Amino acid sequence: MLIMLRPCCVMIGLLLLWPLPAAWGFSRLCSDLSLRSAFSAVRSSSMEGGGEHLAVTFDQVTVDVGGDFQKDTGLFTCRVPGAYYFSFTVGKFPHKELSVMLMKNRNEVQTIVYDEDNTDERKMQSQSVMLQLDFGDTVWLRLHGDPRYALYSNTAHYTTFSGYSSYSLWTLRTLRGQGGQGTVRVKEEEPEEDPRSAFSVGRTQSIVGVTRAGLPHHRPISFDSEFVNIGGDFNITSGVFLCRVPGVYYFSFNAGKLPEKRLSVKLMKNQMEVQTMIYDDSRGQRALQSQSLMLSLRRGDSVWLYSHQSQGFGAYSNHAKYINFSGFLVYPDPANRRR
Ligand SMILES: *[C@@H]1O[C@H](CO)[C@@H](O)[C@H](O)[C@H]1NC(C)=O
Ligand SMILES: *[C@@H]1O[C@H](CO)[C@@H](O)[C@H](O)[C@H]1NC(C)=O
Repeated sequence: MLIMLRPCCVMIGLLLLWPLPAAWGFSRLCSDLSLRSAFSAVRSSSMEGGGEHLAVTFDQVTVDVGGDFQKDTGLFTCRVPGAYYFSFTVGKFPHKELSVMLMKNRNEVQTIVYDEDNTDERKMQSQSVMLQLDFGDTVWLRLHGDPRYALYSNTAHYTTFSGYSSYSLWTLRTLRGQGGQGTVRVKEEEPEEDPRSAFSVGRTQSIVGVTRAGLPHHRPISFDSEFVNIGGDFNITSGVFLCRVPGVYYFSFNAGKLPEKRLSVKLMKNQMEVQTMIYDDSRGQRALQSQSLMLSLRRGDSVWLYSHQSQGFGAYSNHAKYINFSGFLVYPDPANRRR
């Protein structure tokens, strides 16, 4: 967690060194356009581990805003500091094992693993994550180096990688000023900004269900690592996202399955269940699951996750934070902005 937060602090620190009016002038001058960054890349051939080139490269960039992604090296290089959302999908090669890691610089952030290699089935897996990036940070996909590993793709593009900047730090700075919790105070002549809200949190401990009378049925899953919390709308201690800015939000969550336990994690909006992740077979194997959805929220709505509380259920995590939860505002409610 320290590693992930440091760039952000450094950046805020740097911003403090800037004379405020200059920073403002700069951010206004840049307007929206040069702060945009988005890419989507596809690979149309399979790739085996064992070569020197562990980075997954791509042969076509289908979306390129800002030119920050190089298909030949497979590297995304951050030009606009801020919060980014990345997602990737990889296909499993028949009779090979699959292990693809999402890397931030030299550090592993997220991994897709598929252990069984004995089937000739092709399978696909997807993951997504939100990351706070500093200028010059790189994000790339790494295939396991051993020749036993391979990823599958063909012209149907089973292997894809995309990312985009959800919030630039220039706006984050404004937000902190408004919220009063940050270090920067922004003066009244501040231009009207779109409201911002985004979070990404992880949990390093497994959850094991116990049947016990008197225990509340639906207790939110709490978290211990905060990657992003723009606007401060997510409380990691209580595990609850509280909507401050009405609008349309995108949420995604991941959880691992505990061996010999059933996985049942639910996404709740207020007291209503909106999406369920279930993994019913209680065999020994590890499994990871991801889900995502969009929700329309009003001010005061809460969104949270819970894991089924009775015996026989559980969700697996460790220092790799297999249990994680993120969300961000896609479009604020237009009615609210005329307030
Ligand atoms: C989030 O969970 C997934 C799947 O359970 C896991 O592979 C990944 O490492 C986690 N991501 C982060 C950022 O901790
Ligand atoms: C977060 O939740 C905890 C536990 O419910 C509570 O004690 C704390 O005051 C909350 N923090 C904020 C900033 O609301």
